[in-house]
Amino acid sequence: MSGTLRVDVPLGDRSYPVLVGAGARHELASVLRESKLTAGAQRAAVVTQPGIDVDVDPGIGCETFEIPDGERAKELSTVGELCSAFTRFGLTRRDVVVGVGGGVVTDVAGFAAAVYHRGVAVVHIPTTLLGQIDAAVGGKTGVNLAEGKNLVGAFWQPAAVLCDTEVLDTLPERELRAGYGELAKYHFIGCSPRAARLIGSHRSLAQRLDGGEPLSSLEGAELVAACVAIKAEVVASDETESGRRALLNYGHTLGHALEIAGRFDLRHGEAVAIGLRYAAMVARLLGRIDDDRVAEHERVLDAYGLDASLPHGIDHDEIIELFGRDKKAAGGITFVLDGPDGLEAVPGIDPGVLRSALERM
Ligand code: GLY
Repeated sequence: MSGTLRVDVPLGDRSYPVLVGAGARHELASVLRESKLTAGAQRAAVVTQPGIDVDVDPGIGCETFEIPDGERAKELSTVGELCSAFTRFGLTRRDVVVGVGGGVVTDVAGFAAAVYHRGVAVVHIPTTLLGQIDAAVGGKTGVNLAEGKNLVGAFWQPAAVLCDTEVLDTLPERELRAGYGELAKYHFIGCSPRAARLIGSHRSLAQRLDGGEPLSSLEGAELVAACVAIKAEVVASDETESGRRALLNYGHTLGHALEIAGRFDLRHGEAVAIGLRYAAMVARLLGRIDDDRVAEHERVLDAYGLDASLPHGIDHDEIIELFGRDKKAAGGITFVLDGPDGLEAVPGIDPGVLRSALERM
């Protein structure tokens, strides 16, 4: 399709394309025919949620499976029910799962695909900004437990990802802003100079958006493609997060703690925005960055119109305890922090510093 941008996630013989642009979802049938993982598929199980009104045509026999609305769908029981429904549909190992929705759908559909018949191909069609620039790319899948978020899952790379920027036009304002939280993160991740330039130029686009001036569809697609290019580069260098991929979690340690504490009405990207400002504060207290760099964080968040203040009524002890339960916390409380050489995962952070940073927010 003319005007569709293509970014490859380079993973050797498991490399796959991410197609970005207005109408990219209409590439589904041809992508299924062309990918070696899906070329023989005769059935597509389309997984989505109620209220996601995005038409897709896999060009082969298909059935749609709705999982429950919202984050509560991210449960092992949902995956079990989906797999049973796939069996009744007659889905085989040669067929394909197609996830159509936001981060919850890509996480659940991806995990079901990873475990159904010990692995069946999946194609993601993310319908939120957050899904397009983060969740659908890179192969992380999983569900929550009562004890924490994303504690059960698998790395399962998709056969392709179709980021249709047309579907973002109808996203509620708040959902779009939630995506900006992840977008702001990419400003601080070291990456190819070209992707960095694109993201940098889009800071002024964010300011335009704030003034009510819409992006053209090409500008929107370039923005999504720039983020995908950064993510693809990081994922290719460390697919299963033994090191560098953790940088994609910049801003997520406080973000996740706020989400788990659960009393605050925050979307994931909104929580990440608060987490980015907090991580800058922690880095400043540790002498890793100066005041100008903290101000740079504030400017980026402001440019996207993100309110990064700590919600009222936050219990500092509870948050510090939640930091200790984070998946990264193997060598003491670990944060991804900015510093003279860019971002890095820093283990063993003194809880006293974390508490002071909370007080300064
Ligand atoms: N969302 C972070 C990652 O995919 O690694």
